[in-house]
Amino acid sequence: MLEFEIIQNANPMTEADRALAFQNLGFGTLFSDHMAVIHWSADKGWHSAQVTARAPFSLDPASSVLHYAQEIFEGMKAYRAADGKVVLFRPDQNAKRFNASARRLAMPELPEEDFLAAIEKLVAVDRKWVPEGNGGSLYLRPFMFANESFLGVRPSKEYIFCVIASPVGPYFKGGAKPVKIWVSEDYTRAAVGGTGAAKCGGNYAASLIAQAEAGKHGCDQVLFLDAAERKWIEELGGMNIFFVFNDGSMVTPPLGTILPGITRNSILTLAKDNNIAVQERPYAFDELQADAASGRLVEAFACGTAAVVAGIGELKHRSGSLTIGTGETGAVTTLLRDKLVGIQTQALADSHGWLHSI
Ligand code: PLP
Ligand code: COI
Repeated sequence: MLEFEIIQNANPMTEADRALAFQNLGFGTLFSDHMAVIHWSADKGWHSAQVTARAPFSLDPASSVLHYAQEIFEGMKAYRAADGKVVLFRPDQNAKRFNASARRLAMPELPEEDFLAAIEKLVAVDRKWVPEGNGGSLYLRPFMFANESFLGVRPSKEYIFCVIASPVGPYFKGGAKPVKIWVSEDYTRAAVGGTGAAKCGGNYAASLIAQAEAGKHGCDQVLFLDAAERKWIEELGGMNIFFVFNDGSMVTPPLGTILPGITRNSILTLAKDNNIAVQERPYAFDELQADAASGRLVEAFACGTAAVVAGIGELKHRSGSLTIGTGETGAVTTLLRDKLVGIQTQALADSHGWLHSI
């Protein structure tokens, strides 16, 4: 296991400035005082683990990440309970998915214990950056990028792993209001055999034009259909999706070309706990339109670390729009959201052992 050198930031943000910044938390604009960094090279493996002052990297213009985008990341949150205890939610799952992404992008795997140690040590040093209550949390962004100065197209022989931390409030500006989704019929996100199941920066770069189109249509997020037939619902730009029917059952697209969301997986477990039947099966956009028209489809929600669980009120597409149920966040969505947030904030019992104290 790696030993971390801890170097305190000599110029941390003042308590007063942080208190002021915490009054209006958005998503991903404010950063804590430190970062964790670990280097990898083909000859030394993982080495030089540090928690140090957050500072810019200096990259050679030939650094391979700048040319061939060999980069992966994770997203997770640290939550503070009323008694001051700070917890991570299922960080072992992020460590595993990070390594699955690393394998797909031909990058070195980071032992899970070192991934967790980097997160734990950063959160311990920046503990006061974990907001208290009001839906706030410390969003953690572990990432790894290729950093060899070499223009040949092959896996890099040098990498940097880093974790930064950002105190966040709600991801969507409308707060708890249901979100609007744009169905992208021109652009797709991932094809079979591609990188859809990996959390690599390139997937997000390719989604931005579709997300911008969603914005132009007054929508908060883009919904992608499958690349082969443009028929099957896959996922949103940065979230998985669930649908709720009037018989109380739910459906969510199966894994394969989508990101295996940790929130998605947790919702599947919470649904089972609450006797809600869920099918993981392909769900066609045509079928969705018919179900919305007949009244069978009563709720839809997006879920992910950043967004938590967000009700979907409306879907817009090239030839029209449809309201889901009443257009408001539904009862099943609210129930599942409350169960999930209850565990994360330690208001409900952690019966699945999902929390990891720091
Ligand atoms: N799908 C995509 C494309 C995402 O970016 C995310 C967010 O990380 C998710 C799904 C949800 O994953 P998780 O619940 O692990 O945050
Ligand atoms: C996350 O939820 O962690 C993501 O990476 C998604 C993105 C919308 C911020």
